[in-house]
Amino acid sequence: MPVVKILVIGSINMDVVNHVLKHPLPGETIKSIKTDYNPGGKGANQAVAAALAGAQVMFIGAVGNDPFASQLLSAIRGMGVHSDFVIHKNGNSGLASITVDASGENHIILSEGANGLLTVNDIQDSLEAFENADIVMLQNEINWDTTRYVMEESHKRGISVYFNPAPALQIPLDILHLIDVLILNETEAESLTGIPVTNEYQAIQASVKLIDGGVGKVVLTLGSKGALFSDSNFNVKHVPSFDVQVVDTTAAGDTFIGVLAATTGSTDISEETLRFASAAAAIKITRKGALDGIPNKSEIEAFLTSANSKK
Ligand code: RIB
Repeated sequence: MPVVKILVIGSINMDVVNHVLKHPLPGETIKSIKTDYNPGGKGANQAVAAALAGAQVMFIGAVGNDPFASQLLSAIRGMGVHSDFVIHKNGNSGLASITVDASGENHIILSEGANGLLTVNDIQDSLEAFENADIVMLQNEINWDTTRYVMEESHKRGISVYFNPAPALQIPLDILHLIDVLILNETEAESLTGIPVTNEYQAIQASVKLIDGGVGKVVLTLGSKGALFSDSNFNVKHVPSFDVQVVDTTAAGDTFIGVLAATTGSTDISEETLRFASAAAAIKITRKGALDGIPNKSEIEAFLTSANSKK
């Protein structure tokens, strides 16, 4: 397969991570066991996951003029992501305040910083980056007007749009027809459809509603219950998750998305590519951090060989 060219337009954050035994109750103060500074952000995580899986990746986002900016950019460049169009703004880079408890579950508070300053004009100054892209990948951590403009521009140019509406926000549904592949979790699906997703039947109902609204293909990630793919031809595929020791779930969804886009190449999502992405997310869960815990292609292949031999 030729190398897939992916343009990611999204967030890049310094994750300040406190490891705790249990999350604090409202009003409670607790001590952190350890504090880490990890480069992350949904856009940057997805870009790195795609690059490590073998895609050619260009990232457009915004950093501040603080000391984190250069650390964030060297982190993504060190993992093979091109950053020529990243914009420097006055003020702070994005910062995510994360607590991870002993079970690996995280709580995240986002301070958007420079991510919130990425404008439509900035993208119009970077249109050259769209020229060779097969896929444009978006999330919900930059301005909605900018995201919407990128969807419209990509659709006009015939570039496949992958959208991960995370974190869940109220967004206008008239953009659904601009999305070729929508990858979302249960909370995000409920926010877009009004259907609570607590079982496979509801997951299919929510996916059908999104497809009826104009989305090309839907991949609903269901945590330990795996992932459900649906399209307008009534194809439905369920891929189970892998059973692994949970260390840190941060960026597991981002890893799944980046690897799925890199291995799918177009919008032809197969059970094999879903399983490959699911294996990548499983490896991420066994490792601490965001970008730093994302596996490369050979690690994913080795994991799958070992999983297949245990069947
Ligand atoms: O999806 C995980 C990411 O969400 C973290 O890296 C953090 O920066 C937040 O954006």
